Amino acid sequence: MDKLTKLKSQALDELAGAKSEDQINQIRIKFLGRKGLLTGILRQMGTLPQEQRRATGQLANSIKTELEAELKLKQTHIRLNQNRKKTSPKLDVTLPGRRPALGKKHPITQTIEEISNIFLSLGFQIAQGPEVESDYYNFEALNIPADHPARDMHDTFYITDKLLLRTHTSPVQIHVMEKIKPPIRIIAPGKAYRCDADHTHTPMFHQVEGLLVDDLVTFGDLKGVLNLFAQRMFGADTKLRFRPSFFPFTEPSAEIDIACVMCKGEGCRVCSRTGWLEILGAGMVDPAVFEKVGYDADKYTGFAFGMGVERIAMLKYGINDIRLFFENDLRFLAQF
Ligand code: FA5
Repeated sequence: MDKLTKLKSQALDELAGAKSEDQINQIRIKFLGRKGLLTGILRQMGTLPQEQRRATGQLANSIKTELEAELKLKQTHIRLNQNRKKTSPKLDVTLPGRRPALGKKHPITQTIEEISNIFLSLGFQIAQGPEVESDYYNFEALNIPADHPARDMHDTFYITDKLLLRTHTSPVQIHVMEKIKPPIRIIAPGKAYRCDADHTHTPMFHQVEGLLVDDLVTFGDLKGVLNLFAQRMFGADTKLRFRPSFFPFTEPSAEIDIACVMCKGEGCRVCSRTGWLEILGAGMVDPAVFEKVGYDADKYTGFAFGMGVERIAMLKYGINDIRLFFENDLRFLAQF
C-alpha cells in the first residue's frame, strides 16, 4: 500500500510538469499502460495474502480512476490553451484604446439650439409653420401685396402661382396670431428658401423669427431683448447698432449690426473696414398686419425680428464661407 501511495504522488508530480499532449500520453503509458507501473502492481495482486488483497485492490483501483481523471483534465487544459493561441492575436493591454467615432449635432443645429435657449430663458415659446407656404402667408398677410417692389428682394422659388417655398420665417407670425390672442411671446426657428447663392447666401438657409405682442410694447423693449440676446450669444461686452430700415410688415423698422466680433469694431476685412456686421432685421409690428389677423391695432403693439442663423454661426465661429455648412465635409463638421 505504501508503494501504491508513492506511485500516485510520483504520477501526479510528473503530470504537473507535463507541457504537451505527447508528455501526457507518455505518463499514461508509464503508469496505466499494459506494462505500466500501476498495472504491474494490480497484476501482482494475486500473490498477496488473502487478508491484504481486498484493501490493496480497492486502493489500487481508486488511484487508477483518479489518475485517469487527472490525465483527462490536464489534456483538456492543454488543448484549450493551444486553441486560444491559434485564434487570438497577441493582446497588448498597455496600448491606448481606439476611440469610437461619435456623431455630433450639425453646427447650424447647435446654433439654433443656443439661440432658442436664450429666448426660452426669457419666457418665449417655440412655434412652427410649413415650409411650403401660400402666397397669402408669405407676402399678402405681411403687407406685401402682389405689385409691391419688396417682392423683388425675395428671389422666390414658386411651386404654382399661389404656392411657394417660404422666403422667410415671418409667415409663422401670421399663423400664430390667427390662432391665439395676445399676450404673445414666440420664436420660430426654421428653414427658408431663396434663389440665391454666393459665399454669404445659400438657396436653403435658416432664420429665427421672433414676435412679442401685448399692451404697451415699445421699441425700447425690442432694444432690451436684442441687446440681452447679443450679449448672451457673443459675450457681455458685445455692442449692437440699430440702423433705420424698411420692411412692409414693421413700422418703424431697423437693421441691426453687431460690433465686428473679429476686430471688436476696429475695422477689418470681414466687416469691410466698417467695424459692424448686420445680423438681423426687426421692427414694431405694422398695424396693417394686425388688421389682417383681426387684432385691434389701437389696443395692441408688438415687435418682431428675424435673424439669419448661418450668419450668426459664421460670426460666432469665424467662418468666411456659408457653403462650408452644407458640403458635409467631416473634417469641417467635426470641429464643432
Ligand atoms: C427678412 O427675411 C425679414 N423677414 C426679417 C424680419 C422679420 C424683419 C421680422 C422684421 C421683422 P432679410 O431678407 O433681411 O429679412 O433676411 C434676414 C436675414 O436672413 C439676413 O440678415 C441674412 O442673415 C439671412 N438671409 C437672407 N437670405 C439669405 C440666404 N440666401 N442665405 C443665407 N442667409 C440669408
